[in-house]
Amino acid sequence: MAQKRILLIIGGGIAAYKSLFLIRVLARRGIKSRVIITKGGTQFVTPLSAGSLSGDTVYTDLWDLTAEAEMGHIELSRSADLIVVAPATADIMAKAAQGIANDLATTTLLATDKPVLYAPAMNVRMYEHPATQRNISQLKSDGALFVGPDAGEMACGEFGDGRMAEPEAIADAIEAALSAAPRPLSGKHVLMTAGPTREPIDPVRYLSNHSSGKQGYALAEALEELGAKVTLVTGPTALITPDGVTRVDIETAREMMAAVEGALPADIFIGVAAVADWRPASSGDRKIKKSDGGVGDLKLTENPDILKTVCGHKKRPPLVIGFAAETNDVTAHAQAKLKRKGCDWIVANDVSGDVMGGDHNTMILVTPDDTHAMPKMSKADAARKLAQKIAEHFS
Ligand code: C5P
Repeated sequence: MAQKRILLIIGGGIAAYKSLFLIRVLARRGIKSRVIITKGGTQFVTPLSAGSLSGDTVYTDLWDLTAEAEMGHIELSRSADLIVVAPATADIMAKAAQGIANDLATTTLLATDKPVLYAPAMNVRMYEHPATQRNISQLKSDGALFVGPDAGEMACGEFGDGRMAEPEAIADAIEAALSAAPRPLSGKHVLMTAGPTREPIDPVRYLSNHSSGKQGYALAEALEELGAKVTLVTGPTALITPDGVTRVDIETAREMMAAVEGALPADIFIGVAAVADWRPASSGDRKIKKSDGGVGDLKLTENPDILKTVCGHKKRPPLVIGFAAETNDVTAHAQAKLKRKGCDWIVANDVSGDVMGGDHNTMILVTPDDTHAMPKMSKADAARKLAQKIAEHFS
């Protein structure tokens, strides 16, 4: 792995001494390090030791005119194949998650267009604090990579999660990140819907459908793996949120509509949800009793068509994809739906078998000038194929 270069940001924590070992480990593996040390970091390790090990200038100050003349901070932020933050303190991750840029390290993290790997290190309580966990989730959903922390005894005497990963483990994660598959959708925001909606009849009853959300979640995961920032607006499902995906939970079609509009703009919209077409015209806050006359004459009213609304929206994403669950004349119905809704592609599937709730799918991709039938495959494989098609469209 010759000639690869990382930009190592050493934060202010006792684990900073391990980052000096990391520079050595990386050098042995043919990876060069250029180093930034934060103000806090310089309390633990010196620029002289980091510079001696890296054989390069060490940067510490955003306002250092000499360093800025040598290499501006924007250029510095893009001068490596990967940025590694080790130790990544609670403070530096909080700032990066919020986009705060008030020193050289955080400015570099905001200005970079390169992947970032964090090696968190802090006291266990600080690590487990909801604020830190929130910031880590945010950074993950922005595409950041993580290694560690490990569990064990800490410098402060407490025991638990928060020890920085060992230099060899960080070096392994760096090598994996440097040789990772290309992420062709990086920088693209995908907004998706998935799962069913629930339309209340009264506080305890609702109208819904058999959608499990499996195809939508698999697609969210496949798109995230290709580097997209994915917002998944989902009805109730029993599924785990894929890593790195931002999930917005809703119940009704109208809530889904509002969440989708709130999450625009996006580069791609994909409506996978089985949105209930109708909802009860009224639903009170009291349970309907048989003695009230029951629900025999339940009046329904039409729900908003989310896909159609997005197609006609002033913030319409450049690529809008709808799904069409059909039981007969699948392709013909899909072609008609493409025109009616105003979307760019329709993914049609025959739901006459066990597709809803099942693990397999047979998809037909219909575009204005092409129809591409795919063989029956797992929903995960179908998702990867579709994600690949989307990536090709943008390449
Ligand atoms: O009209 P139909 O329900 O057959 O269209 C299916 C497509 O439209 C799917 O992409 C689905 O997510 C979307 N849809 C929607 N809002 C609705 C109904 C369907 O976004 N109210």
